[in-house]
Amino acid sequence: MSIRIENIAKSFSAFRALGGVTLHIGEGEFVALLGPSGSGKTTLLRIIAGLEFPDDGRIIFSGKDVTDTPAAQRGIGFVFQHYALFGHMNVARNIAFGLDIMKRRERPSKEAIASRVEELLRLVRLKDYGSRYPSQLSGGQRQRVALARALARNPRILLLDEPFGALDAKVRRELRDALRIIHNEVGLTSIFVTHDHEEAFALADRVAILNSGKVEQFAAPTVTIATPKSDFVRSFLE
Ligand SMILES: Nc1ncnc2c1ncn2[C@@H]1O[C@H](COP(=O)(O)OP(=O)(O)O)[C@@H](O)[C@H]1O
Ligand SMILES: [Mg+2]
Repeated sequence: MSIRIENIAKSFSAFRALGGVTLHIGEGEFVALLGPSGSGKTTLLRIIAGLEFPDDGRIIFSGKDVTDTPAAQRGIGFVFQHYALFGHMNVARNIAFGLDIMKRRERPSKEAIASRVEELLRLVRLKDYGSRYPSQLSGGQRQRVALARALARNPRILLLDEPFGALDAKVRRELRDALRIIHNEVGLTSIFVTHDHEEAFALADRVAILNSGKVEQFAAPTVTIATPKSDFVRSFLE
């Protein structure tokens, strides 16, 4: 899926959170949204997901206008910083959740769900963890489960909102590498929100730098580092 974000504006009462954001993201691309706290990253991600609706502008997935399409029909997987896993369900059931709740007519068979869970456990390198409970996992392992759960229904777009924010530096780096490999293996289009420029530049094909609800620069890491477009970008990279 390609994603065209066309002139998206969003205010909360008198406060303008997004002031006309345009980004064209290619099929299979990995894009980071980078900006300080309050710059509008989460709001933009929620609008792409259909959890929030813009005052102005359009969202287009592979040529189809989805601006008014509800989240459940957009075929998106999400991972959030505090993506609460269900504590009373083991890892396998957590991953299967999105499949288990499908209407019977659409739901894969029990066997198909079990084999999909096995495949996802392998993908996130947690092959032998299916019967553990979330409380028996490290923070990094929990986020791997959250990622597997987000991928269970084969989304064509993956959105991640500061998914590694609560983890220590070493685990973050491991997960960052794992995420990039999984993105490439699955062939998704991914958008990753972070306020950490190192993380954004290490991970993404292109980085959109947001400042007060506007895009300052949208380019490959090497281009932004070599030719920062504004003082804001320059200061943000230091
Ligand atoms: N539901 C809301 N109601 C009021 N203000 C909001 C709401 N959501 C976000 N905002 C405001 O919009 C701005 C951008 O927020 P957000 O998109 O969460 O930024 P970021 O994710 O970059 O930290 C912030 O000033 C925030 O307080
Ligand atoms: Mg945020």
